[in-house]
Amino acid sequence: VRPELDALPLDQVRQVGDLRRRVRDWKRQGQRVGLVPTMGALHEGHLSLIRFAADEADRVVASIFVNPTQFGPDEDFRRYPRRPRKDAALLAANGCDLLFLPDVETVYPPGHITFVDLDESLDSPSRGLESEFRPGHFRGVVTVVAQLFNLVEPDLAVFGEKDAQQLTTVRCMVRDLHFDVEILAHPTVRDADGLAMSSRNAFLTPPQRAAAPLLYRTLRRAKRMVEAGERDAAVVRQAMQEALAAEPLFETNYADVVEADNFQRVDRIGSDIILPAAVDVGGTRLLDNVRIAIT
Ligand code: PAF
Repeated sequence: VRPELDALPLDQVRQVGDLRRRVRDWKRQGQRVGLVPTMGALHEGHLSLIRFAADEADRVVASIFVNPTQFGPDEDFRRYPRRPRKDAALLAANGCDLLFLPDVETVYPPGHITFVDLDESLDSPSRGLESEFRPGHFRGVVTVVAQLFNLVEPDLAVFGEKDAQQLTTVRCMVRDLHFDVEILAHPTVRDADGLAMSSRNAFLTPPQRAAAPLLYRTLRRAKRMVEAGERDAAVVRQAMQEALAAEPLFETNYADVVEADNFQRVDRIGSDIILPAAVDVGGTRLLDNVRIAIT
């Protein structure tokens, strides 16, 4: 029982039966239902996903669930910001119709043994990059996303392009497991200085926050190199790594050049690539990417 949530200004459900009744009622009336899965601590990036979902669907369900299975043992699961009351007010103001706020035991029933596994062979988009630094992360993500799809039964679901490897992996999961859910992507929302919005930005100290926009500046500079004709991925990788290494507050996790549709590393730059990068800033990971489509 969490009495502090009872006064939330948005319709909310915590139990599967209540959720299904609400969503199935809408569907019986011929309404299209959109899902925006989140882990809460909502910012303008999430809210733009909600507004986008509201444009694309008749009803919008947002889920807030800090999913334990996508965090490693040394990661920030416990300190991940949780503020459902403020989140609910923001959701209500941005066109969300229903908040699904399950407990861990609702998503992972006692005795839970079933996960969605990912084949980490060479051409899996979930291989490398985030997975190298967060082993098992995408297994937790696709498991919870599959569960949310089964629970909410949405017609469409919206994901942010900031987590580009996640988005590509989720698309594969939907294809492979035949989910009848349309996956829509929404562009990354940024602060005025270019820093991609993230719930984890709240952890940054003022000096770390001041350094943080270098990540996106580096990606934009690399994008300009490619647009100016550079086709050797090693040259672009090295330029990004050198630029990030120049910031003493950054510890670079990766800065890479991959195919946009499957996240495979490339040697020669083709027509549609993504430059993904992640840095550790005093224990807070910042993640970003730019996409380059050469016509
Ligand atoms: O991107 C996120 O916030 C999470 O990975 C998601 C998709 C809500 C699954 O827990």
